[in-house]
Amino acid sequence: MVMKRQDVLLEPSISGVPVDPEQGGRKMVEIGFGNGEFLTHLAGLNPDTMVYGLEISMTCVGKAVKRAVREDLGNVRIICGDARFLLRECFSDESLERIYMSFPCPWPKERHARRRVTHRGFSDVVASVLRIGGCFELATDEKWYADEVASILDGHPSLSLISFDVNKRREITTKYERKWLEQGKDIYLLVFEKLGNFTVDRIVDGRCDDMHVAVKSDELDMAVLKDEKLGISEGEDGAHWTLERIYSDSRDSWLIQAVTSDDGYEQKFYVRVVLRENGALVKVDGVCSPYLTPAVRRALDAVAGSIRRS
Ligand SMILES: C[S@@+](CC[C@H](N)C(=O)[O-])C[C@H]1O[C@@H](n2cnc3c(N)ncnc32)[C@H](O)[C@@H]1O
Repeated sequence: MVMKRQDVLLEPSISGVPVDPEQGGRKMVEIGFGNGEFLTHLAGLNPDTMVYGLEISMTCVGKAVKRAVREDLGNVRIICGDARFLLRECFSDESLERIYMSFPCPWPKERHARRRVTHRGFSDVVASVLRIGGCFELATDEKWYADEVASILDGHPSLSLISFDVNKRREITTKYERKWLEQGKDIYLLVFEKLGNFTVDRIVDGRCDDMHVAVKSDELDMAVLKDEKLGISEGEDGAHWTLERIYSDSRDSWLIQAVTSDDGYEQKFYVRVVLRENGALVKVDGVCSPYLTPAVRRALDAVAGSIRRS
């Protein structure tokens, strides 16, 4: 089989989440794979395992997809986005053999602590998606960060720190690993094992292309769409939505710029309002494919509410 870009790059917001029931079999994840060297090497060493890479940088995603296609690896799948969200939403409980994270940005300043991948809720997600006996492996060049992660994850009732090594050689190295070794830095390698069952709530619920809100013609008041701005910004239960600029070049279709946030996970997309004979339909415009989260649902409801006569 000759692998193509579209075989490797998964867009679960289009194909639906979680991704794993479609695949079956053994699965591993690498978080923040950078140039994709470790990811593809891991896939080559484990041909019977589907290896998923989660990476926030589109440039890194592009490089890794090219590498997987060039090496014709049928067992690599890449998802672009924040791993803190993707790990929880794309993988079900007990679905992963192993999770790797090599040299994540440690964000040393306290005011940036919330940017750390391992911040708030990460240990719960790891404890949920690993199978019992499965492991999370972290490599870092920062001792304070190794200690912090050791204390957070080892403090979780379903996880246990089984090894904390300094300068232990791994079968596969990464670009950053070689860089820090050349500079004479110590490398800390931590392995945590999952010991007991644990679950977390997921928030993605269905697909955006199946979701719309209808407003009947006798309830309609489209006056609000005559302005350039909608100016709705609301929030509740960790879900926030802002609806701003309105674009239209016709009398029966409008686009509204939306930004939503679910517990800090931001999505930008457009809401489309289309006039029909019997009323109006409010839906996510097909050009972007956000995950269908509570904030996205509420943004659609808020647009529908604004064109519904009070
Ligand atoms: C210092 S680099 C390490 C790259 C690679 N693992 C290595 O060791 O060479 C950290 C990587 O993590 C990615 N990253 C940072 N935050 C992330 C997040 N929340 N989700 C997914 N990837 C993230 C960055 O884009 C970057 O590629």
